[in-house]
Amino acid sequence: MVNATTSQTHFNYKPIPVASNADPIYFEDFGRQVEGFDPAKTTPEQMEEIVNMLYKHSILLFKNLKLTPKQQFEMTHAFDPEANTYGHGNNKTGNTKSSILHPDLKTIPHQPQVQLIGNGRVDGVHEGLDSPQLKHPHHKTFHKTPVSDEDEAHGVTRFYRWHIDAALYALSPPKVTTLYAVKVPSGELQTCRYDDGTSDELQVPLGGTAFVSGKNMFDILPEEYKSLAVRTTVEYAPHPYVWMSKAHALSTGLGLESEGLEMNLEDLPEWEESKVKKLPMCWKNPVTGALHLQVHPCGAFKLHIAPSSSSTATLYPEGATISDLTKVREILYTIQRPGIAPPLVYAQDWEEGDLVVFHNRGLLHSVMGAFTPDQVRMFHQCNLAASDDPVGPDADDIAKYA
Ligand SMILES: [Fe+2]
Repeated sequence: MVNATTSQTHFNYKPIPVASNADPIYFEDFGRQVEGFDPAKTTPEQMEEIVNMLYKHSILLFKNLKLTPKQQFEMTHAFDPEANTYGHGNNKTGNTKSSILHPDLKTIPHQPQVQLIGNGRVDGVHEGLDSPQLKHPHHKTFHKTPVSDEDEAHGVTRFYRWHIDAALYALSPPKVTTLYAVKVPSGELQTCRYDDGTSDELQVPLGGTAFVSGKNMFDILPEEYKSLAVRTTVEYAPHPYVWMSKAHALSTGLGLESEGLEMNLEDLPEWEESKVKKLPMCWKNPVTGALHLQVHPCGAFKLHIAPSSSSTATLYPEGATISDLTKVREILYTIQRPGIAPPLVYAQDWEEGDLVVFHNRGLLHSVMGAFTPDQVRMFHQCNLAASDDPVGPDADDIAKYA
């Protein structure tokens, strides 16, 4: 690998433009803006540097790019040359119409790994799609207690859903996602409110995308929770987006309310045990070796906790399997909520020509904001179901934390 921290890099790297909510201590390594990159003239050595820098910094922002869907696919593909299909597989599958992801995606016909997402009706033909109708997800369709119409009129919004881009069934979570802003309507700042009994809130750009580092999320945990995190494997529900399609989210978008609205497993589309995803709670960064706390809280179904070999462990020292959903969610929320506090959030303020490449196995992200039907917004999104599953803590990590 190229040592991208030397002065011999192909490109310039500077910190991402964080807002005043952010505590710089959490952004020393998290996020870089890349200057000098031209997707039409990329060499393999340059891509190797980009791959390396992405794993070190989790988010790379490129400004003023012209990027074709083919170039976007090739850039995404460079992170996982053996991966070729979109992260959710063939999203036209007829039997998953009840999935909560279904309405949000339009596949670009000549580059089917790239999706058009956004808001409003697009005039004319865009990349082979005839007048596509797009819809930005609104939290009132998902949260149990949405903000009032009056507050919304005053610009109050929520994190829609904190997540990892992943099918979480049969397919492996994509290594990276690339998001390219084609058309961005301008608008006023909004207030993203947590509404979870805290007074936490953020000033955010209209339709901004929020990111938090899974490494920060792990690093700020107290020792007893680090021990629990490195010993835990998260089992996801089969077809999790169908399973959860009637459930409501918490006001922070960080997981679901436990109201018993999940589908019974026998009512789901056909599934098999061997395709159920059981993934470590902490994923090891392939370049830095750091642990990133990576759980998609909405899809989590059970927690499998290994015993601790330390005499000082206080949480489940004997190990356990937790299958009570309310308890599963309580534990996950306790572990994950500190990591989405305002000082840890980066909100991308999109401008046309922005490309964000993010380490999908190293952070969580969420859309925010609400658009009116006449506000047309277009993004190209690409990620690829990975050629392998993420790797968990190694023996040294277990010795250090468990
Ligand atoms: Fe996403």
